[in-house]
Amino acid sequence: MTELSGGAVHIPVLLNEVLEVLGAGRGGMYLDCTFGGGGHTRALLDAHPDTWVVALDRDVRAIERGRGWAAKYGERLELVHTPYSDVLQQVSFRGFDGVLADLGMSTDQLREERGFSFADRSALDMRMDETTGISAREFLNTAAERDIYIALARGGVGTTARQLARVLVSKRPFENALELAEVVRGSQLGKRAVSRVHPATVVFQALRMHVNQELQEIEKLLEVVPVLAKKGGKLAVITFHSLEDRLVANTMRGWESAGTYPASWRGPRDQKRIGVVSPKKPIVPSDEEVSRNAASRSARLRVFEFVE
Ligand SMILES: C[S@@+](CC[C@H](N)C(=O)[O-])C[C@H]1O[C@@H](n2cnc3c(N)ncnc32)[C@H](O)[C@@H]1O
Repeated sequence: MTELSGGAVHIPVLLNEVLEVLGAGRGGMYLDCTFGGGGHTRALLDAHPDTWVVALDRDVRAIERGRGWAAKYGERLELVHTPYSDVLQQVSFRGFDGVLADLGMSTDQLREERGFSFADRSALDMRMDETTGISAREFLNTAAERDIYIALARGGVGTTARQLARVLVSKRPFENALELAEVVRGSQLGKRAVSRVHPATVVFQALRMHVNQELQEIEKLLEVVPVLAKKGGKLAVITFHSLEDRLVANTMRGWESAGTYPASWRGPRDQKRIGVVSPKKPIVPSDEEVSRNAASRSARLRVFEFVE
């Protein structure tokens, strides 16, 4: 990474594809809902001198890292510490040419010993915004077994979620991520695991999703994007697992079908569709990108174009 990265190690995923679908070469006004290491934001700004970006992140560390180099772009870059579900309250501009959401967590968060990685001996926190909400440790150590089961099941753990919730309650308190990963390995889920992927992967994902209310956040963002994007503007979303991908794909398809409007839609409620999913199939990383950046392997880029 260049020294402009302010210490971020995250490699932006599907970068050229995002620039192309958002028409970055023409310049414009963009909203990056997930600033992270700033890779997409920076590339948008560098693609044209008449580009402005408003970039959000709920992680104050990401915003602070970005402030280290934001001055280079002057007023062309505005950084806002907020969950994207609050974007309408935090950002007054309407009529963005492009809105980008690169979902999930960044490599920086994974490496910061905040409990996102199952090798972490540090506290099992998992909050992207450490200033609010309860940590994964507090949730696991205090929640009712049923609530833990629901979080695991909703997060994709599958048929072993109930048994695992029972095991987790019997083994608490948990202090760090490593302890949790070891308990999962010894559970039914761990014993059934056949692939080379650590059995705790899906459990960590489920807890992270619960602690950060990730699906609810995405739902709220999708509700308001039609207010934020201009006519002819685009929404580009990069998903990393089937739960979020299904939510994004179904919402975009719903928008495309005649007469289906998000609650936030302020245009006429006639039978005209508000836009199109384009391309119809998700854009996935090339073999070259996956070999260069393994974190990109499950990425899917879905794009919606609002009608003129
Ligand atoms: C995959 S990273 C983005 C990487 C970025 N595109 C880049 O090129 O460096 C996802 C970022 O989104 C942030 N994030 C996740 N959920 C969020 C939410 N609901 N509101 C705001 N930011 C969120 C995370 O804190 C993380 O920094």
